Amino acid sequence: MNIGLLGYGTVGGGVDRILREDPALKVTRVLSLFSTEEMASRYTDRAEDILKDPAIDTVVEVLGGIHPAYEWISEAMRAGKNVVTANKAVVAACYRELVSLSREMNVSFRCTAAAGGGIPWLTSLERVKKNDRVEAVFGVMNGSCNYILSEMEKGGSFGAALKNAQALGFAERDPSADVDGPDTLRKLMISSCIAFNGYIAEDEIPCRGIRTVRTEDLAFLKEKGLKLKLFAYAAEKDGKVAAAVEPAAFPEGSALAGITKNLNLIGCRLQYGGTLTFTGEGAGRYPTAENVVRDLRDVAAFRPAFYADGLQPLHVDNTALKRIYYVRTSAEDPFLEKITAEKDGAYIKTLPVSVPEMHAFLSSLEADGTPVFAAAVPEEEAYA
Ligand code: HSE
Repeated sequence: MNIGLLGYGTVGGGVDRILREDPALKVTRVLSLFSTEEMASRYTDRAEDILKDPAIDTVVEVLGGIHPAYEWISEAMRAGKNVVTANKAVVAACYRELVSLSREMNVSFRCTAAAGGGIPWLTSLERVKKNDRVEAVFGVMNGSCNYILSEMEKGGSFGAALKNAQALGFAERDPSADVDGPDTLRKLMISSCIAFNGYIAEDEIPCRGIRTVRTEDLAFLKEKGLKLKLFAYAAEKDGKVAAAVEPAAFPEGSALAGITKNLNLIGCRLQYGGTLTFTGEGAGRYPTAENVVRDLRDVAAFRPAFYADGLQPLHVDNTALKRIYYVRTSAEDPFLEKITAEKDGAYIKTLPVSVPEMHAFLSSLEADGTPVFAAAVPEEEAYA
């Protein structure tokens, strides 16, 4: 296999390092903003040196972002090249276009590193869904957020923990994609499309991040025997999908509560096969690069197509998705009064509330500049 590498950042450099001694998977050309000694004569600053090179049969795209990644992946596929990417932004935004084009051109398109960092989650999901109906996918899907929350539990500040997550190579170039939830949302969307064999638009899934979490919120939850995580969840029934990304609290001792540092825990609930969970490093150079290399080996060995064929739209309907929340806010609001089950110091514990209704309420407070924190308490059957 002759590989053209589009991008030589955290993940691209890791892929090149892992493959350096591998005669079967040769990185023959590297697109980068600058040349280094390791790249030697393989270096180019022109994408066409890779996309138009007939000797290159497989392109690895690890640039991040939507443009020009989308155009270059499409051009590679049109030239009959297989594509492996770790870029969830482009896969989520251009899911239908890229899956259709890979099918039309009969090339492989793999993106296992796009969800779960180093966890072979999408390939496992692909295998189990051939045999069983996936009822739900869920988990902690962002290593940076999990690392930040773990550091804050130890007393660290949000800002310092975020800086460390960037220095360790966990965070996205624009870390708001991590802390505000879009990165988790994209991973949930890609996982759901594959699990439920259809297309779910990113913007139909309500999403909140961890930016408003304070150390005292984590201490309050700890007193209740709970740990905070950024939780992604999607379930499908009769063609309708319930889905959300939001901070959620899990009982100490549960598997999700035990996920610390940059680890992810991702799982699925199957009709016959019970619940499966996968744990591993969800972010970082070598774990993520490993998943890219596994995809390359799969392409070399089997030339498999994309993980799922279905592209018919599946719509999000969260009317039945209700959760209890712990809320910290100074706002006095009739909606909040109506949903209050009990007051507990600076916090309110709510009655079960519809998730989209709660998100709309929280957004309205934030739009008025009112600080607010909310942690959902998902029902155990959602994740076990
Ligand atoms: N920024 C991502 C994370 C990288 O922190 O999980 C891996 O997808």
